[in-house]
Amino acid sequence: MTRTVWTSIDFGRLPAPAPADRPMTTTPLLTIVLAAGKGTRMKSALPKVMHRLAGLSILGHVLKAAQAAGSNEIAVVIGPDMDVVRAEVEQCAPRAKVFVQHEPLGTAHAVLSARPALAAHDGDVLVLVADIPLLTPASIARLRAALEAGNHVAVLGFETSDPDGYGRLVTDASGALLAIREHEDASAEERAISFCNSGVLAFRHTDLLPLLDRIGGINAQGEYYLTDAIEVARKEGLKVAAVACPEEEGVGINSRDQLAAAERIYQDRRRLAAMLEGATLIAPETVWFSHDTRIGRDVIIEPNVFFGPGVVVEDGVVIRANCHFTGARIRAGAEVGPFARFRPGADIGPGVHIGNFVEVKNSTLEEGAKANHLAYIGDGRVGARTNIGAGTILCNYDGFNKHRTDIGAGAFIGSNTSLVAPVKVGDGAYIGSGSVITKDVPADALALERTEQHVRPGWAAKFRALMSRHKARGTG
Ligand code: UD1
Ligand code: CA
Repeated sequence: MTRTVWTSIDFGRLPAPAPADRPMTTTPLLTIVLAAGKGTRMKSALPKVMHRLAGLSILGHVLKAAQAAGSNEIAVVIGPDMDVVRAEVEQCAPRAKVFVQHEPLGTAHAVLSARPALAAHDGDVLVLVADIPLLTPASIARLRAALEAGNHVAVLGFETSDPDGYGRLVTDASGALLAIREHEDASAEERAISFCNSGVLAFRHTDLLPLLDRIGGINAQGEYYLTDAIEVARKEGLKVAAVACPEEEGVGINSRDQLAAAERIYQDRRRLAAMLEGATLIAPETVWFSHDTRIGRDVIIEPNVFFGPGVVVEDGVVIRANCHFTGARIRAGAEVGPFARFRPGADIGPGVHIGNFVEVKNSTLEEGAKANHLAYIGDGRVGARTNIGAGTILCNYDGFNKHRTDIGAGAFIGSNTSLVAPVKVGDGAYIGSGSVITKDVPADALALERTEQHVRPGWAAKFRALMSRHKARGTG
């Protein structure tokens, strides 16, 4: 399988895309993304394209590729009752237009559901199936180049040792593309073909609508196949071409095992990209990135680290083993983990040290603050250089509402302190271990909240002697 480096994502400091990644043409591009259809093989209440890969929907990945490929307009075709898909389009590509295909009558019929967008467009048309999340803008650019070179229709194909279920690209002895034959309609001889349709086709606009109108519904599934456009185009004397892409970009996701396989490939791309950009991953195969994770330079990531969505890691950060992060910013030079958990709104300041079993949520730790063992820091601020002792809890929730804790700079919070929010601790204040702090503590004060310690010399020895006697007599 060809390994491609993913170069189009906002991954820290990625170099400018190679020339092949940029659109080679100034012709306006309308991209139609086909996302109707049930995807029944997923066995899910969720539409297929809403299943997630690295924290982003399959559809979101395809929309990202469409945007990065320089689409001037995007139209997404969804099924009826797919409000969740519509919302995802609004989130991932707010300027995209959504069209509803009321009956799943095939991919050609789906394209025609976006007829108003087609009618208003003058330029190239790219059609993407919404279930190929590993497609790269570079391959889209190569497909468009085939139109530039004088073809009227171009299809993106891939070689695979497992072509079952895909449309086959039928070529003549000279390699010229003759037709796309869907698996169900293919003869035994055609099924032996290993060059398959990725589901990505590009058309010169003026040719597309007449071609679609000529596609009949005569095929094994009683559907209107977009893939029939190749044969129809040839009959009309138009030029067609197939452009090859790596297998991983062409494989579609129809089932959960295919989703897991795509996730593996995607994670490999991200790990490689992180390392090429200057991060050290000691065991890359154990680090899981989100689609939007950003990693700076000279970051060291130990084994078994999971990044949920929305995490930014700045330069020089050390992440020790077994951490879980979501929605967090870890600023330059911080050292975190092992076993740290950052939840949304965690802002870990420069040079901060976070140790094992520390959870941070919706809280800022300012420069050089430390929380090295067993703590919950929720809805708070910890000022610069403040030390949070082992077992400290910011009690942010009273069962109904969340409240904030504000701790100033240079403070010392003794071990096993509970800070019952809302509460403020001033700069340089000192909290004695084991205190339950319910009132504000002024700057530079000592706050201590615990019962007085009683010491009775010799008591334990007397107690042991008494109990041993009772036990020996059987009266204990
Ligand atoms: C399709 C292609 C096949 C190709 C494969 C690549 C056709 C006829 N077949 O097959 O040649 O090898 O993709 O993955 O194009 N959709 C609609 N409306 C419909 C039917 C489908 O919007 O009426 C959408 C689906 O949501 C999906 C895409 O079109 O995103 C492809 O449909 P799917 O059923 O997955 O087609 P395949 O059988 O995989
Ligand atoms: Ca498919």
